[in-house]
Amino acid sequence: MSEPVLSHVPRRDASGVPRHVAIIMDGNGRWAKARGLPRVAGHREGAKAVRRTIQAAIDHGVQYLTLFAFSSENWQRPADEVADLTFLMKHYLRNELAELHEKGVKLLVIGERERFGDTLSKELDAAERKTANNAKLTLVMAISYGGRAEIVAAARRAMLAGMAPEELTEQSFSGFLSTSGLPDPDLLIRTSGEQRVSNFLLWQIAYAEILFTSGLWPDFGGAEFAAALENYASRERRFGARPV
Ligand code: IPE
Ligand code: IPE
Ligand code: MG
Repeated sequence: MSEPVLSHVPRRDASGVPRHVAIIMDGNGRWAKARGLPRVAGHREGAKAVRRTIQAAIDHGVQYLTLFAFSSENWQRPADEVADLTFLMKHYLRNELAELHEKGVKLLVIGERERFGDTLSKELDAAERKTANNAKLTLVMAISYGGRAEIVAAARRAMLAGMAPEELTEQSFSGFLSTSGLPDPDLLIRTSGEQRVSNFLLWQIAYAEILFTSGLWPDFGGAEFAAALENYASRERRFGARPV
């Protein structure tokens, strides 16, 4: 039997640890509401969960962690919430970058960062450059990201590059996506009980294992991450083939 044609399909290593974990970090607003706090308090607490999750990913030997921090649809939220989120991202970056760098985290940003303005946009560029040679964990931050927009942009780039129709394959098309060079996620987690994808990584999650958890994002941490990995390890991935 020859190798399956989907050569880009992710494969977990023998340890059962997913190589790439993607997370839709949801439930900040509900976390705050349950405590009678403003939504921004939930987002602030959510940033602490990001910190814990990055550490957990490193501890478990996960190589790629992609976090959905702001969707292209989140621009529809009230201006004050968008401003709060922009402020928090800026501060997160300023406060955490040195430590992330020390830990060997390589930062990549996908999505339309320009929409957050020059300051944040340039700081993100600089953070990517600073951490470019790190190899412990690749942290992909999705901000102002939408899966459909990404696919359309990739198609446009392929056309501008003069790709002939017959040159366009799943493999070559992947190279035009913002995730070019990254393996597809093995495990996609969404917190807060919502069971939808909300326009996240539409192309890349073709064969991801999906885990919906009921906890809210600000309550996420090492124990929840470990439980998700355990759940993943118990699954059988078939990629359309038959188990041997
Ligand atoms: C996730 O929490 C953070 C972002 C989408 C930016 P939410 O703000 O969506 O929280 P809920 O879903 O209202 O609880
Ligand atoms: C998805 O959460 C986007 C992020 C977590 C950044 P939303 O809360 O925006 O998604 P919907 O509106 O419930 O689908
Ligand atoms: Mg939400």
